Amino acid sequence: MKITGTGSALPEKVVTNDMLAGFLDTSDSWITSRTGIRTRHLLSTETLTDLALKAANAAIASSGVQPEDIDYLICSNVANSYVSPSLGSILLAPLGLCCPTFDLNGACAGLVYSLDIADSFLKTGRAKNILIVAAEEPSRFCNWHERETSVLFGDGAAALVVTEGEGFKDFLLTADTHTEVLYYKRSLEETPYDRLDEKTEPLVMNGREVFRLAVTSCIDDIDKILEKNNMSGHDIDLYLLHQANFRIIESIRQHLEQPREKFPTNMQNYGNTSSASIGILIDELSRTGQLKDGATLLLSAFGGGFVTGAAILKWSQINY
Ligand code: UT7
Repeated sequence: MKITGTGSALPEKVVTNDMLAGFLDTSDSWITSRTGIRTRHLLSTETLTDLALKAANAAIASSGVQPEDIDYLICSNVANSYVSPSLGSILLAPLGLCCPTFDLNGACAGLVYSLDIADSFLKTGRAKNILIVAAEEPSRFCNWHERETSVLFGDGAAALVVTEGEGFKDFLLTADTHTEVLYYKRSLEETPYDRLDEKTEPLVMNGREVFRLAVTSCIDDIDKILEKNNMSGHDIDLYLLHQANFRIIESIRQHLEQPREKFPTNMQNYGNTSSASIGILIDELSRTGQLKDGATLLLSAFGGGFVTGAAILKWSQINY
């Protein structure tokens, strides 16, 4: 499988750390030094569907594939205002697609999970051209009176078109049983037989524990996937890691003893956009010519659950 088209979209509204300090007991210096985040884009006038469509249309246009040739749509999304239909179903008609679709909730690792599934669909001949859309609005899960979570997230969407070709070399997905460290609950309707005892609760996060799990599990994944492919950290040209916290990326980089230039980041501009983060990074680097033809990339992401995913691929240049 190889990536033949990329796209991304962000909300227009840019929110700085100073703007948050206007209503939260926080500061630009705390957020910048603890996370690396300086601004984030938050949905205000647009919807998540608008972002997803913009990213998807850009990815389809850059791939050179016609919408009618896309034969599967995988949509990575943790939650949006619709439980049903899936976000994928909502996107089909405006994109001019008529193909099977489903939403996948792999938390922040959802894009790597989607790529792994797309790879197996291509290998079994189930599809030829697959559109993957990762669209997330994590700002809508947070309690905006709580400084511990609300400063971390941003909204955004990314899309990739993938097709048969020489690109992805290997995947490694994991799932652990730490559901308590990061969760967001929605309530269902009451029935005559089951009363609602619990109310909807905004995102709950044990930040320190998520930090620890993120660093240890990503290092574990990266070490394992490199070893499995008889590679060392030096064989990777760029590490495209989930953009949650600059210090998490720094800890992984120090373990791998690799130079900082190999770890591009954009969380400083967008915050943590959940499963969209690696896709937005790929789109930006590709469009600005920073992904060289033949470069070896390593993707690694972690998220609530606790799930993680890593992949190694050789990049083929896309002409925009
Ligand atoms: O995709 C997965 C999503 N989640 C993550 O990636 C989160 C991973 N974890 C982290 O990124 C970090 O743990 C945080 C950025 C959330 C927190 O950084 P930390 O260095 O682990 O800080 P801490 O939780 O140990 O808190 C240190 C202090 C506390 O005050 P005291 O108890 O020392 O007085 C917090 O109350 O910082 C305080 N604090 C804040 N202060 C100003 C926590 N949040 C804030 C804030 N502004 N926004």
